[in-house]
This record gives sequence, C-alpha cells and structure tokens, in this order.
Amino acid sequence: MQIPADVLAVLTDPRTVISGDRVAVPFELGRDLYGRMNQMLKDIGGRWDGRKAVRAHVFPFPVEQFMRDCIAAGEWPSRFEQGWYPTPPAVVFDMLEHASIRVGHTVLEPSAGTGSLAKRAAEEMGIVDCVEIDPRRAHLLRELGIARQVIQGDFLGLDPLALDEPYDRVLMNPPFSNAIAHVMHALAFMKDGGTLVAVMPESITWHLDRAAQDFRKLIADNEGEIVKLPADAFKASGTDVHTVLLVLNGGPGSTLPTHGWHRRQPVQLDLFAGV
Ligand SMILES: C[S@@+](CC[C@H](N)C(=O)[O-])C[C@H]1O[C@@H](n2cnc3c(N)ncnc32)[C@H](O)[C@@H]1O
Repeated sequence: MQIPADVLAVLTDPRTVISGDRVAVPFELGRDLYGRMNQMLKDIGGRWDGRKAVRAHVFPFPVEQFMRDCIAAGEWPSRFEQGWYPTPPAVVFDMLEHASIRVGHTVLEPSAGTGSLAKRAAEEMGIVDCVEIDPRRAHLLRELGIARQVIQGDFLGLDPLALDEPYDRVLMNPPFSNAIAHVMHALAFMKDGGTLVAVMPESITWHLDRAAQDFRKLIADNEGEIVKLPADAFKASGTDVHTVLLVLNGGPGSTLPTHGWHRRQPVQLDLFAGV
C-alpha cells in the first residue's frame, strides 16, 4: 500500500520519533491526517497507547528498521496483500483433530503468521518448524519460543531435498491467492506416511484451470478429504472467503508427491550440458 504524501511528511518530520518498538508524533495532526496515519500504523501491527508516559503507537516487534524500509519505498506491506488471515480458534481446533499429532511428531507450518496453528501443534508436544515470509511475524514467532526453528523467507523458494528428515505432519493455512502451489510444495517436505491438513479457499473444489483440475485428481486418487467450513469461518480474521479443510494422508499406495516420492525420481542427467 502506498504511504499517502501527507503521512510520509509526518513520518519523516524531524520531531517524529521512530525508535525501538514505537512511533511517537509529538505534535498535533488534523483529524483526517491522523486517521490515515493511524490506519497505516494499525495495518502494520501497531496499537495506540494513550498512557501519559507512552503516547505512541506501540508494535510487538522492533519497528525502526522496518519503518525506515517502508519510508524509503514509499509503501508498506499490507497484511491483506500478504494474505495474512490468522486461523480462527474453531478452525484450529478442527485441524488439530484431523492432524492427530503425537508426542515427538515433527510438524511443519510453512506460512506460520503469528503462530495460531504452530502454538497448538507445540502444545500437542509436536516438534514444530515454522516458515514465514514477513519479518515482523517471523520475529513474533521467535519471541513466542514455540518452534524448534523459524525460517524467515519465501517457503516456495526452499528446497525440500536439502532436508534430511521430512515431517510427520504439515499444518498450514497458506495465502489463499496461491494456495495450491503452497500445498503442492509442502507435500515435498512430508514423510511418506505423513498427514497434511490445510485450510484452502473453497474455489479449489470448482475452479476449471489446469492446476485446480490436476489438484482435484490428486486428492481423489489419494482418498483425500475435503471438509467444507462454515461460510463465516474467517469473518473474525477480516475475510468472507469461503474455505475448506483439506486432509491428505500419505499411507501405503499413495501417489502424493511427498519427500520420498521426490527422492525416488530418477536423477535427470543433463546430457546436453556444455553443448
Ligand atoms: C492466511 S495467513 C495464515 C497465518 C497462520 N498460518 C495462521 O494460521 O494463523 C498466511 C501467512 O503466510 C505468509 N506468507 C505469504 N506468502 C508466503 C511465502 N511465500 N512463504 C512463507 N510465508 C508466506 C503471510 O505473511 C501470512 O502470515
């Protein structure tokens, strides 16, 4: 989202203090301008703390470098643009039921947000690894201390074959705009006998494009389960997108492209290398 010119002027005003976890503007702003700035700072994750000793927007992560980057770019990454819709508790509950995490199971959360799913997986005594593209949310995940490791980066850019030990369980609520690609990539991190439970947009059940058709065939061939969620399941997170839960088990006879499946593919010899 582009930072409006007048908000940018406030943020770069020498009197404005951006430091540690807060942004403080020690001068009066008109009502409209304050509204626009408040909206931006809230979207980034800040909250107004009006106590006399604070009087600043306070963030749950160090905001200084982040704001510097936003100001230099003239824009901020909106939570909606990044597809950040935290999984509501009722959906998390259903997902955990399907995942049957046992003590010591390794669990991958490849688009972990602020950890709604990862937290519960850790409470079930799973050993949880998280991936999250957004540095603010990755920072929060580390602060929570629930994960064995938190990788900040693009999950789709991670190489599954660089991994020695694939995961028993994958729990995910990927960005809805690219959900099939995320789930297909996540399967490559799962053990042959593992289970993947994903929230996906309902459109995967009827979209006519090639990727959606192939995906439905893969689900059917592997007796995957698609469970429709209530229409308002994500209302509390700010979206009316209709969603389903996908459950895939990589048991005997499975054709899912798991980590083992990828390992078993013949190595492609580059016969024309150097020609
Ligand atoms: C729908 S939210 C779900 C958050 C979390 N899984 C939960 O259930 O509360 C999707 C998350 O994926 C992150 N994300 C988007 N693209 C990503 C990518 N390519 N790699 C890793 N994380 C990504 C977003 O920043 C956002 O936090």
